[in-house]
Amino acid sequence: MTSTPQHIAIIMDGNGRWATAKGLPRTEGHRQGAQTVTRILEAAHKRGIRYVTLYAFSTENWKRPADEVNTLMDLFRQYLKKDLSELEKQSVRIHFIGDRNRFPQDIQTQMNKLEQSTRSHDQYHLILALSYSGRDELTRAVKRLAEQVKAGQFNPADVTAEVIEAALDTAGIPDPDLMIRTSGEQRISNFLLWQLAYTEMYFSPVYWPDFTEEELDKAIEAYRARDRRFGKVK
Ligand code: IPE
Ligand code: IPE
Ligand code: MG
Repeated sequence: MTSTPQHIAIIMDGNGRWATAKGLPRTEGHRQGAQTVTRILEAAHKRGIRYVTLYAFSTENWKRPADEVNTLMDLFRQYLKKDLSELEKQSVRIHFIGDRNRFPQDIQTQMNKLEQSTRSHDQYHLILALSYSGRDELTRAVKRLAEQVKAGQFNPADVTAEVIEAALDTAGIPDPDLMIRTSGEQRISNFLLWQLAYTEMYFSPVYWPDFTEEELDKAIEAYRARDRRFGKVK
């Protein structure tokens, strides 16, 4: 029996299929999905879950049709302005992971502003993975470390797991206890490759726009029934 997870990471998948099944454009699924985010964050906080990481846009998602990418950018803009400003008031610290340089300048500015203004909050943490992939994060981290070695600031013999962790976008954030993927797909799709090493996995058949507080509870229940051994013998 395990206690309530401290950190839940979610691959919010199935927006497009949710819309298609209803005869709506895929973008409508993204609009609905954004509302699910607000609902699930509230539910997670009510349950005392301190860290929530949400996979909202992968580096591979840039290859989707331009109109879908543009709609997603507009939704991020709205979300950053309205919903996150609300969280700013509720003691939530906001972090962004991923390559933010690929976003339009106004979105980058808003991300930096939100991170700065919520810096001192510690009760709850929201980590938004935007233009993120695990391989891209690791590649950028290796590049930074290699630069330090080249500059003579760092000795290759001193590379440890802690050093790598500190070079990742998630530096300072504990690893997820539970990873939930919605929409029935059972794969990682380049999410948190390093951090998920000992995370419990839960796959829900529900499309993200239909994901509810009750579905979240099912995932937490499943997690509580797991026996986390971390390679050891009990
Ligand atoms: C997840 O839903 C949201 C993003 C990846 C931006 P999808 O857009 O992947 O929806 P499906 O998987 O095609 O149904
Ligand atoms: C993963 O979903 C990325 C996000 C949910 C943001 P995808 O829909 O992009 O992943 P694949 O293509 O099904 O693996
Ligand atoms: Mg998908």
